[in-house]
Amino acid sequence: MEFKQVIGDRSTIRFFDPDKPVEPEKIQIMLEAANRSSRAVNADFVKAVVVFRDDLDDETWEKLKTPTTTVQLDLAPVSIFWYGDMSFAEGGAARLKELVDLGALPTTHGWSHTYVDEVAFGQVVEPMSKDVMASTWAVSVECGLAINQALLAAVDEGLGVGLHAFESGTAKEALGIPDHWIPMWLMLVGYAAEDRKGGGQRPRRPLEANYYLHKYGQPWQDIPGVQDGLRKSGMLQDPMDPEKRQQEIRELAERFGLPL
Ligand SMILES: Cc1cc2nc3c(=O)[nH]c(=O)nc-3n(C[C@H](O)[C@H](O)[C@H](O)COP(=O)(O)O)c2cc1C
Repeated sequence: MEFKQVIGDRSTIRFFDPDKPVEPEKIQIMLEAANRSSRAVNADFVKAVVVFRDDLDDETWEKLKTPTTTVQLDLAPVSIFWYGDMSFAEGGAARLKELVDLGALPTTHGWSHTYVDEVAFGQVVEPMSKDVMASTWAVSVECGLAINQALLAAVDEGLGVGLHAFESGTAKEALGIPDHWIPMWLMLVGYAAEDRKGGGQRPRRPLEANYYLHKYGQPWQDIPGVQDGLRKSGMLQDPMDPEKRQQEIRELAERFGLPL
């Protein structure tokens, strides 16, 4: 699928076909996509545990639910639990030196093994890794980058995906999560039982509401023709039609025996 089409087609899927298994190869493609995400100091901030429905018992699945993660958890054949690793700095200096040796961090920009030891690692990465607030921020951004690449790879593979909260204490115990991993999000994966695009794009505020040019207070102005081009390439698509969506929800409720 074309890149812009993938972005446009992605919507949170909440109704999965529980009887249509997901090919493990497609899960690996998602993990490979996550593994290619950009990352500070080439560290492994991001961890994930892939769990298939039969891996856990019904009681544990039930305990993993939260007020905002309900029936979607019952319907999804695969759950990917994403975590951030607070021990990311370990081996950081060696990984930076590897980038220096490869020329990814060039000498033209001041990089050398000494610079890594004395400045980049010694003055930046290591002190940051000892500051819980700064580390949590850094790890969270890294996870967001990787998770999004996995989401988009899933859409490209014809899968439905969505991110959800999960009861992290239950997951820690059930999955044997180490203490230095902090919970991020649960990614539900499966083939959509609903419209593959979730019934249309969700409302978003225009760029001018959030993006600025030159300085804060000067909203970005749409450049004529750009949105038309994005509609043609599939990044911008029709918004949800509430009547059609309600009809679809009624049908899905009947199919899965869900309350309306
Ligand atoms: C980080 C994150 C956490 C989310 N958590 C939940 C959740 O706990 N339960 C839920 O139903 N939806 C959750 N969502 C889905 C959002 O509600 C959804 O993104 C929203 O409907 C916007 O639509 P879109 O993702 O289809 O574009 C989450 C989305 C993100 C990005």
